[in-house]
Amino acid sequence: MGRSLLTFALLVVVTATALGFSRAEQVNNSASGSLFWSSANGAGHLVGSAETEESLDEHDEFDGGFPSLDGMLQWAIGHSDHVKLESKAQDVKQLSVDEMQKRQMELKELVEKLEMPSDAKLMKIAIDDLNNSSLSLEDHHRALEELLILVEAIDNANDLHKMGGLSVVTRELSNSDSGIRMTCASIIGKASQNNPIVQEQVLELGALPTLIMMVKSSFIEEAIKALYAVSAIIRNNQNGIELFYSEGGDVMVQGVLSNVTADVRLHRRSVSLVGDLAEYQLEYSSRPEPPFFSNCALVRPVLDLTTSDDLDLQEKVLIALKNLLMLRSSEVLVVDGFCGLKGALERMRYQLQQEEVRREYASDVEGLCKEVHLIYLEKLNKVSQVPT
Ligand SMILES: *[C@@H]1O[C@H](CO)[C@@H](O)[C@H](O)[C@H]1NC(C)=O
Ligand SMILES: *[C@@H]1O[C@H](CO)[C@@H](O)[C@H](O)[C@H]1NC(C)=O
Ligand SMILES: *[C@@H]1O[C@H](CO)[C@@H](O)[C@H](O)[C@H]1NC(C)=O
Ligand SMILES: *[C@@H]1O[C@H](CO)[C@@H](O)[C@H](O)[C@H]1NC(C)=O
Repeated sequence: MGRSLLTFALLVVVTATALGFSRAEQVNNSASGSLFWSSANGAGHLVGSAETEESLDEHDEFDGGFPSLDGMLQWAIGHSDHVKLESKAQDVKQLSVDEMQKRQMELKELVEKLEMPSDAKLMKIAIDDLNNSSLSLEDHHRALEELLILVEAIDNANDLHKMGGLSVVTRELSNSDSGIRMTCASIIGKASQNNPIVQEQVLELGALPTLIMMVKSSFIEEAIKALYAVSAIIRNNQNGIELFYSEGGDVMVQGVLSNVTADVRLHRRSVSLVGDLAEYQLEYSSRPEPPFFSNCALVRPVLDLTTSDDLDLQEKVLIALKNLLMLRSSEVLVVDGFCGLKGALERMRYQLQQEEVRREYASDVEGLCKEVHLIYLEKLNKVSQVPT
């Protein structure tokens, strides 16, 4: 969250207030997620709820966390002379254009005079609160929600460790409160996403094995956030990937994939993780391929997910299969039919043709089905050719 954005939003809000919009209207106009200021130790606190479902997919766009105008409004009101603002709002309808412009200039000056706390300061407050055991669970939750928003900015993510925050957040992964553990996992995931510096720091602090364990949590949201964090930490990171295997991450992923009652979000995420790992392997093809890939213990549960009626999951399954098939080590499986690929693809294509609502998407996924089948046939052709 950039400072300029904050300032801009504040200007909009103060202007809107002065022009007499009711608060409710502004609330209805605000972006998703709520953000407000409060105070644990008298200092300004930024609190909000970012979108809950981070996505590692489609090359990792975060869909959350724009601060809302409502939050800015509350902050602005708390830090300005609101009697004056209210009287401005009363008067505004009788103003001429000239006067209106003059008022707007005054408002702009007012906004410029407001002292915005820096992100670094907000991070420090949140970290201190989190680290302060005499504060309540609620205060700790709030501190974590603040950090979750703040680390979205890459500069803040990079500062988190320097300020001692990453150590505290990693320590809190073992908190007895599942909500605290969940938000800590989210923060680690968000801060490490596409950020090799933070990835290394997290690995050094030893968070990965804990997060791998957390995927087994019976609290489903915790499991999802933990898997999200695991994926973010190891993505395109050789050290992370090695540690992932040695800490039993492969077994964990296979467990999720073959658990038919697991949440579809866990299935999507684990199948994407398999696809990413195979893609990384394809990119660094000189490195030996881990036995993980050339194993029906992995491929079969992935194939079984093709019966899902979730198009998004089906698409991710196909992308993972495509990457797996392109690996050298797939040859041993291809000779034997790649753990039942052909039947699975046929069933899937039939199912996709029945899809009535999302026709276009379904036909895209069907195209991907054909592509996977072709790659399979090429590979089969290659391995069955008798050398002359
Ligand atoms: C804001 O939205 C709520 C729920 O959608 C609605 O009940 C309320 O009337 C709206 N307020 C205004 C001022 O539009
Ligand atoms: C912890 O919080 C309490 C209560 O607000 C405060 O009095 C104390 O100074 C804080 N401790 C530290 C180390 O900041
Ligand atoms: C957290 O508190 C402990 C003492 O309770 C202190 O030693 C440590 O430096 C604090 N960490 C941070 C990041 O402030
Ligand atoms: C499968 O998933 C369900 C639902 O999340 C969970 O309760 C169960 O423990 C899981 N089973 C195994 C063997 O992990």
